[in-house]
Amino acid sequence: MNRQDIEISDLRRITELVKEQYRYDFTNYAMSSFRRRILRIMELYKFGSADLLIKRLKDDRSFFDEFIAEITVNVTEMFRDPPFWRELRDNVIPNILLNHNTISIWHAGCSSGEEVFSMAILLKEMGILHKAKIIATDIDKVILEKAKKGHYSMKNMELNEKNYIRFEGKNNFKDYFKEENGKAVMDKSLIENVSFREHDLVQGVVFNKFDLILCRNVMIYFNQNLQNEVLKKHHESLFKYGYLVIGSKESLIWCEIANKFIVVNNEEKIYKKIKD
Ligand SMILES: C[S@@+](CC[C@H](N)C(=O)[O-])C[C@H]1O[C@@H](n2cnc3c(N)ncnc32)[C@H](O)[C@@H]1O
Repeated sequence: MNRQDIEISDLRRITELVKEQYRYDFTNYAMSSFRRRILRIMELYKFGSADLLIKRLKDDRSFFDEFIAEITVNVTEMFRDPPFWRELRDNVIPNILLNHNTISIWHAGCSSGEEVFSMAILLKEMGILHKAKIIATDIDKVILEKAKKGHYSMKNMELNEKNYIRFEGKNNFKDYFKEENGKAVMDKSLIENVSFREHDLVQGVVFNKFDLILCRNVMIYFNQNLQNEVLKKHHESLFKYGYLVIGSKESLIWCEIANKFIVVNNEEKIYKKIKD
């Protein structure tokens, strides 16, 4: 089978089976990226036809976790978009703390945890890590385990350090990890108060209220209908005057609940909820 061979009808059979058997709904994922990921799985596992992939999905529960890990795009960095992190430190978080003594944060689609460690470092340098309650969620079990461990390749740490320097962090970035057997092992005390949980933004219910939600570079893989639905849930999950941050290539000005937010920073895609 070559890369062109997968039919739309096969993709539909795959999403239907996954929805029925595993209760995950990929129907409204952006088609082109979903198709690319399915073709990649077929190549990787040497499935000669969509039927073989479907059979394996039906018969093998443990394969499903690998399937999810391959379907999702987990690319991330620490202090990705450094000006955004500066804005968070210099304006957004001080603003939240004007009215509260504590801060509740949700990393929705946290991937391997780099964003969570960035947040913890930022809060620690502000002297308020102990005031934060952080929940980090992702649909992908395998990547969540990686996030909890906080082990990263030294190569990636070079980029993370460059971002940290552009963020204008207070300390030496190397103080936050140790090198062990060629890997960077993050300081675990940073995430002592972080709760990592499996959660699907599509099927999952609203489970709490937050002052700040980061859902960056996640909805980019969803079609507009699904983005709309997820954005409604984000709105519900925020306290009034809470902040929502999405990825630099994403926007919410077109969506149904856009009038319930104001734009705080258009460049960094930071929005503030102003209406229930
Ligand atoms: C590209 S990463 C973004 C990571 C991080 N937020 C950042 O911006 O660096 C996208 C993450 O969204 C997760 N994801 C995709 N679909 C999801 C869903 N339905 N519910 C929860 N997480 C999802 C993926 O598993 C992946 O880890």
